[in-house]
Amino acid sequence: MSVADVEKAIAAHPSAKAILVNNPTYYGICSDLKRIVEIAHKAGMLVLADEAHGTHFYFHEDLPISAMAAGCDMAAASIHKTGGSLTQSSILLTRRPVNPDYVRQVITLTQSTSASYLLLSSLDIARKNLFFKGRAMYQKTMDFADYAREEINALGGYYAFGPELVDGDTVFAFDRTKLSVHTRDIGLAGIEVYDYLRDDYGIQIEFGDIGNLLAIISCGDRMMDIERLISALEEIKRQREKSPIGLFDHEYIDPVIVMPPQEAFYAKKRRVAMKESTGLVAGEFVMSYPPGIPIVAPGERITADVLAHILFAKEKGCFMTGTEDMNLDYINVLA
Ligand SMILES: Cc1ncc(COP(=O)(O)O)c(C=O)c1O
Repeated sequence: MSVADVEKAIAAHPSAKAILVNNPTYYGICSDLKRIVEIAHKAGMLVLADEAHGTHFYFHEDLPISAMAAGCDMAAASIHKTGGSLTQSSILLTRRPVNPDYVRQVITLTQSTSASYLLLSSLDIARKNLFFKGRAMYQKTMDFADYAREEINALGGYYAFGPELVDGDTVFAFDRTKLSVHTRDIGLAGIEVYDYLRDDYGIQIEFGDIGNLLAIISCGDRMMDIERLISALEEIKRQREKSPIGLFDHEYIDPVIVMPPQEAFYAKKRRVAMKESTGLVAGEFVMSYPPGIPIVAPGERITADVLAHILFAKEKGCFMTGTEDMNLDYINVLA
């Protein structure tokens, strides 16, 4: 998010209650959180951070600033993602003026009454481990990722992006533990490289999307694992490189919003063949997961670009979610 866009949004919606920011995105990109907090607070708004991928920011000074250090009012940190606790365990951080007792009350409205002691103890162990060993763990992770970036970029064709993208604005900081690689220039979608890595080399990475793959490196990896990944990528390029012509070249499509998502989701709908949906208004989400960013959301028009993106992602083998029809042959549109 650029600070200018946030300023514009605040001016356009002065009665908004809060600003939601990812810190970082799945790919490791951070906004200028400190500045966003400053302008939001000045406008009387809270800043809530989705820190699902930012647990480690609290434990190494060379990583981007953590949400709470930047002054955010709340942050949801999925400790299970990069902090080493069991899947599903996470932490919600709050600071005044957010009242933690009120937060607890609200959570109780939807939360199970049967707490998992397995998850709670796992969080506690991870917290202790992070406190005592976090810095060394993330130093090792950054060193691995920096090395992998350098070697992968030396292969040519791939682009393992990193801190050079930092522009002081929309890319304010980069999480160096993330190994995100742009694959389009070798004529392969990220999801195709993901499949080859898994099926031919037994290497399971985090995800592949239309144009990138993401490997999440951890301190549990070894140098030989990093070397294996690099040589597998080299071999995939050598054996399978194609012309990038025809590959989808943009990942973000500006939405054409016709009505608010809630209204559209609950509106009267009809089911049409996905291939015949151009120009209609979506009544449900279509996402390729990961990363789970909607290609179209309820209330948005299904443009030719949107449809082409959906069909391309499906053809390349992305895991598609959001629609009632799990095969994505049909989509619910506004009646
Ligand atoms: C940006 C982002 N926010 C939130 C979540 C959900 O976090 P959790 O799985 O801890 O509920 C995810 C991912 O899975 C995510 O990528």
